[in-house]
Amino acid sequence: MAGEEKKLKTAVFQEETRIFNPPKDLVENSNVMKWMKKKGFKTEKEMRAWCSSDEHYLEFWDEMAKTYVDWHKPYTKVMDDSEMPYFHWFTGGEINITYNAVDRHAKGKKKDKVAYIWIPEPTDQPTQKITYGDLYKEVNKFANGLKSLGLKKGDRVSIYMPMIPQLPIAMLACAKLGIIHSVVFSGFSSKGLMDRAADCGSRAIITVDGFYRRGKPVPLKQNADEAAAGAPAVEKIIVYKRAGVDVAMKEGRDVWWHDLVKGRSEECEPVWVDPEHRLYILYTSGTTGKPKGIEHATGGNAVGPAQTLHWVFDLKENDVWWCTADIGWVTGHSYIVYAPLILGMTGLMYEGAADYPDFGRWWKNIQDHKVTVLYTAPTAIRMFMKQGPQWPAKYDLSSLRLLGSVGEPINPEAWMWYREHIGRNELQIMDTWWQTETGTFLNSPLPITPLKPGSCTFPLPGYDISILDEDGKEVPLGQGGNIVSLKPYPSMLRAFWGDKERFMKEYWQFYWDVPGRRGVYLAGDKAQRDKDGYFFIQGRIDDVLSVAGHRIANAEVESALVAHPKIAEAAVIGKPDEVKGESIVAFVILRIGNDPSPELAKDAIAFVRKTLGPVAAPSEVHFVNDLPKTRSGKIMRRVVKAKSLGNPVGDISTLMNPEAVDHIPLIV
Ligand code: WTA
Repeated sequence: MAGEEKKLKTAVFQEETRIFNPPKDLVENSNVMKWMKKKGFKTEKEMRAWCSSDEHYLEFWDEMAKTYVDWHKPYTKVMDDSEMPYFHWFTGGEINITYNAVDRHAKGKKKDKVAYIWIPEPTDQPTQKITYGDLYKEVNKFANGLKSLGLKKGDRVSIYMPMIPQLPIAMLACAKLGIIHSVVFSGFSSKGLMDRAADCGSRAIITVDGFYRRGKPVPLKQNADEAAAGAPAVEKIIVYKRAGVDVAMKEGRDVWWHDLVKGRSEECEPVWVDPEHRLYILYTSGTTGKPKGIEHATGGNAVGPAQTLHWVFDLKENDVWWCTADIGWVTGHSYIVYAPLILGMTGLMYEGAADYPDFGRWWKNIQDHKVTVLYTAPTAIRMFMKQGPQWPAKYDLSSLRLLGSVGEPINPEAWMWYREHIGRNELQIMDTWWQTETGTFLNSPLPITPLKPGSCTFPLPGYDISILDEDGKEVPLGQGGNIVSLKPYPSMLRAFWGDKERFMKEYWQFYWDVPGRRGVYLAGDKAQRDKDGYFFIQGRIDDVLSVAGHRIANAEVESALVAHPKIAEAAVIGKPDEVKGESIVAFVILRIGNDPSPELAKDAIAFVRKTLGPVAAPSEVHFVNDLPKTRSGKIMRRVVKAKSLGNPVGDISTLMNPEAVDHIPLIV
């Protein structure tokens, strides 16, 4: 059942004894407390347990689905598990998510409420405030443009754009028509875009001429051209003019955004879809080199993100919400686009780099726009820690009332710094644990939860999260194991685009044949609970790196390296990095006739940068003569990692070439 790489390491666990209780007024005024009072719950523990219980979880989700979403046609069944592990939610209903996110606000009291405050990176360009009424018109015009190109329900469209308002507009326009969007992070290379657009058979790519990064325009359109060359279904490239970069437009294929929307109607009927209709495909890294296309359904993603945002970050009518993620990742999909808009909130979007023109930019944004709730990542916090508290200290951050963290375990030191220097030693930090696959937070504090630094506390109401050993038994408090979800929930992934077998293998197979455990979802993280039941996430089980909060598969970087004409074999590991969490280190064997040199190392790095994009480029390349392998020829990354970081290499009795271990240099 358990593959060698899935064996759990026994981690050293330091007990966290500090507890940070939420202030009374936060608790009393919280959205969740209001609901608890209505329902007659006395304690948080009782409430969380009730909502996630076998008897009540479907009743809970039924109530949430009716609270947060308007259904065009009511569903007849909350959840259908007859095709497990393909769970279906809200069957028999009809919905349009853009109707819920935009239309109903634009046609109601929120017409003039600001949906997005958008801050361009260049400091001489004005901030834009986009109301729900504006958003309605822009989405409809663009949707009508898409329609005019013959794009329709069920088609896939790749969106490759920086953090500008046209990115959510493009997503919402697709969703309005039932077109399945697949956003590709604009930091990926043309090959990254090509692989993804080809895999899901995108009929169009929406992109920009270029964008601003640290004050300079960076061209992007050319990447889309290169990608289209290898993605045969792409018929159209739509280009929004953002940075005034010269681009070549191919006659008959390429069209400017401004030409496409010219003269279009500001009205567009929503296409009502089955709640299971796919809203989006988002690619993420798995254990093999090939990125997997996670399919997300419409109904579940209308309900789950909005409900969790409302309860965890406690958003109220006058809040200004800032999630600093890029929309190219799931955090942006759920918590910059769908959830805040469904709730009718005001969100901030910032186009550029955190250090442009200096390390005060984020804090100035918060001061200027009176941001009340900030949601960011440990990697950003560590970067600011390194720069020193003088940057946030220059600005008035008194509008902030709640903080959040996502992406990787937040080390208690960074947690304390965040609370002290951003949160005036007062604010609670919502450490939300979740994944691309889950669509919403699974484990997270609520505003009523006493916190421990570094802990994502407990499973949220409606989610049944546990920690199991390899045989499917729940591990006792104080011990580590595989974190799993025992029950389905509305926003969970539905499938992998075009790969049923891998979907089964990666998430469900592990416990499938264990009695009573069929349908248990293996998240791929290790976790542990302390004596009070607080969850601490300890990192990935599989070979996936976490670099500046981004998931990158070791295998993907290795396969990019061996595509270099001078490289024969490669092993990639994550080296602990103070700021990024992990930095990528590669050990490579050269093809015969090539000699190691600093230039070749640089060239290999540049090669990966070109192939996969800057996020996946190694920071170090080391040349070796041999790499430790199992008898079946699989490179033992675990051993490479232990040896190079100066840790005990453990059991190497299964190695085909144990002497190879001696060739691995120490890199710390
Ligand atoms: C890690 C990002 C600890 C974890 C939403 C997970 C975390 C992977 C946390 C998913 C957290 C995310 N504490 N670890 N609060 N949040 N992770 O798909 O390993 O980009 O499996 O989704 O990030 O990364 P993904």
